[in-house]
Amino acid sequence: MSKPSDQPSLRWDDHTIVTLDQRALPHEQRHLRLSTVDDVITAITTLAVRGAPSIGLAGALGVALSAYAHCSRGITGDGQEAVRADARRISAARPTAVNLAWAVDRALAKLGDGPDAVLNEATVMIDEDRVVNRRMVAHAVEVVRDHCPQRPLRLLTHCNTGRLATAAVGTALGTILALADSGRVAEVLVNETRPLLQGARLTAWELAEAVVPYRVCVDSAAAAAMSQGLVDCVIVGADRITARGDVANKIGTYALAIAAAHHGIPFIVVAPESSRDRSLADGRDIVIEERPDDEVTAYGGIRTTPPGTRAYNPAFDVTPASLITAIVSEHGVHHTSEVCA
Ligand code: MRU
Repeated sequence: MSKPSDQPSLRWDDHTIVTLDQRALPHEQRHLRLSTVDDVITAITTLAVRGAPSIGLAGALGVALSAYAHCSRGITGDGQEAVRADARRISAARPTAVNLAWAVDRALAKLGDGPDAVLNEATVMIDEDRVVNRRMVAHAVEVVRDHCPQRPLRLLTHCNTGRLATAAVGTALGTILALADSGRVAEVLVNETRPLLQGARLTAWELAEAVVPYRVCVDSAAAAAMSQGLVDCVIVGADRITARGDVANKIGTYALAIAAAHHGIPFIVVAPESSRDRSLADGRDIVIEERPDDEVTAYGGIRTTPPGTRAYNPAFDVTPASLITAIVSEHGVHHTSEVCA
């Protein structure tokens, strides 16, 4: 059997999408088989499949499911319109990560050539993601080396940006694993990432799997860790990056960037080109997904707040470019600010 880290987080198998159910981790490694567009949308909205690149790839495979359902007996106008309607529903499942609409549109562009062409495009994207991860990580390792010559490093990360969030090693977490592989990591502080605990449940699971030293901290401990000299560098991913380099990422990223700037700690974003949205300049124009109240007002299914309590529950925030030391993609470094130089 291959090592867990060699297995892709999602794949196509006999007209279904097979993916690890991220809601069940770290307790259970349960696979889901998604065979309809509704299955795909539910998996994306409930975060069974999550992370910007992964939801894009699941969305593209979802367009293939729709194409087989509506166009396998020939491409008719009605069939095409049904697939386009499904594609719109998939894209709308989560509005902030631009990778979702990008990948769905790319798969949909092949519809005129039939369902096999749509599926082929989706699987090409999965293969491309592996190459993109590798290149991006190689660039990011160099950037960390330039900004943090000390070793071994104490790194801090937020949310989950590893193999669960992509088709390969990941973005920010892929970089951390590559640094650890070359003996450059003393410890990773993992923000638990309230309210859905992607850091505590998923990043910790990936780091444990890779035998990298880590500790989990509550999100509000990150600034204290920086003030106590426990953090040499912050490395995070992105869901959408505007033309001028403002970055939408998991809620809490902005506070981390402010704290890092205050302490003169490099703040590095690692994300593929498919996370860039050149149609937007200003991060304030990014649509931020609002999630249900009960993600905040309850814990493990048990209410923690008085009855009727409402929540402010944005899934993401926007970090302005001025707070970011470097944005790294498969093309290299895109943006460096003077803040932490
Ligand atoms: O709500 P999530 O878990 O999908 O949020 C994910 C993030 O914010 C990640 O940092 C981002 O998608 C990059 S994943 C390589």
